[in-house]
Amino acid sequence: MKTVEDIPVLSGQTFSGHATEFRTTQAAIFLRLARELGDLGQIRFFNFPLVVLCSPELAHEALVEKQKSFEKSLATKMMFYPFAGRGLFTSEGEPWRKNRKLMAPLFHPRTIDGYAPMMNDVITRCLDDWRDGEIIDAGREMTRITMGVAAKVLFDADTLDESDEISAAVRTMFDYLGEQTASVSIFVRATIAQLLLQLEHLPAPLARAREATIEALHQPVPLPTAKRRKLFAAIRTVDDRIQRMITDRRQKGGERPDLLSRLLAARDEVDGSFMTDRQVRDEAMTLFIAGHETTATSTTWCLYFLARNPEVYRRWKQEVDGLSGKTPTAADALRLEYTRGVFREALRLYPPAFAIDRVAVEAVEVGGYHLPKLTSIIVPIHALHRREAIFPDPERFDPARFSPENEAKRPRGAYMPFGAGPRICIGANFATLEAELLLAQIAQRFDFEPVSDAPIGPDYGTALRPERPVLLRVRKRRAAA
Ligand code: HEM
Repeated sequence: MKTVEDIPVLSGQTFSGHATEFRTTQAAIFLRLARELGDLGQIRFFNFPLVVLCSPELAHEALVEKQKSFEKSLATKMMFYPFAGRGLFTSEGEPWRKNRKLMAPLFHPRTIDGYAPMMNDVITRCLDDWRDGEIIDAGREMTRITMGVAAKVLFDADTLDESDEISAAVRTMFDYLGEQTASVSIFVRATIAQLLLQLEHLPAPLARAREATIEALHQPVPLPTAKRRKLFAAIRTVDDRIQRMITDRRQKGGERPDLLSRLLAARDEVDGSFMTDRQVRDEAMTLFIAGHETTATSTTWCLYFLARNPEVYRRWKQEVDGLSGKTPTAADALRLEYTRGVFREALRLYPPAFAIDRVAVEAVEVGGYHLPKLTSIIVPIHALHRREAIFPDPERFDPARFSPENEAKRPRGAYMPFGAGPRICIGANFATLEAELLLAQIAQRFDFEPVSDAPIGPDYGTALRPERPVLLRVRKRRAAA
């Protein structure tokens, strides 16, 4: 049987393996690997292999068929832990299963459709601020809108001013996440924690010391710098705000239509228990963090590509004009097939979660190779979405790739911006509905064009956000002026 040692290694190793290249180019290293090695290869962190699965079949095999043999990597969990605690994104095993089940009804398509009026309200209010003829920074506007929607749907928080302090705090958190992605610090901390977890049969005092060390390794290194102080202050700000809202809901009771109230009311169907304040806080924070930046980045790319592709722009406008100017409902959104294609195509080219990594919790075979326990694997979605055989002329922006007929022709595992298997994004329908309503309202109320013809690429140092601001000149449509 072939082993990890037989998997071809990407060229260009230095003393740290590929750690430096991965740190600086992130998603781009996997494009190089796919070009050089095809479906399967490995990059190395010092002497540790990271097995890269870059075909639909291999991605499906690891994330779906053999999902029980893998867990999320400690490095990824550690990055999010300071904010998301033991929420859905970062937990594992029985606690994850229990909470996923508890939260599933809140993300059921019917429940999500019920959020449409709240989403529409926020979108309408934000678009009211766009003046005829002005130049907007699409990235900033999309963040303002998706953060507003998250604040409204999650916390029933109305004014965006109220969350200003929160926006600044969230920005600080995202800066930290960007800094940590593929960093040597997180790699070293994760490796130490992983080794500690392997120690078995420790006497009680040592076991307690081990737990305390692992917990400390999960926290940001407490460097005495202004940047770190700002980070800890940001976490406190958001924590305090969420705790105040929880206390308020618990004291006043009464029905509010937001997700926070639903989390507080959610009850385990087996033992009838509610979540503790800490659990509710972790889940609310997880949803807030996971739920808006990703949608903001992808809708910004939608506007960028729409502005640069006249034929796509024309078809999109034509489809939305079919609604005769009425504010779209969730049912209308479902019929906006081409608009949904615009969103899905933007997510194909620049998926904000550009790779999914896992660690084998037992020895497992993938693609005919024997991977021992603790082998790290990664599915580079961004590179996977560019495999020429599945997406011909992959750099071309073409929403028609997502017509139902074309989707039916693609192998499973070929397109996974929301992941795959049991850990698939719980908010995928939420994000899709939000993007559809947002794109539909923009089409109805504005025309726009790029301020410059210079192409904009992704910033590989961040979650594939545009490398420069996407500036658009917006004009009110006559009926809306
Ligand atoms: C375009 C928008 C979005 C993208 C591209 C995206 C992408 C992803 C991906 C790829 C995963 C799986 C990660 C893995 O398997 O390691 C994930 C998980 C998750 N996402 Fe999203 N997401 C988006 C929007 C949202 C929204 C709107 C919410 C909530 C309101 C959300 C909440 C979550 C949560 C809680 C998880 C963890 C699920 C679990 O492990 O059970 N996401 N997301």
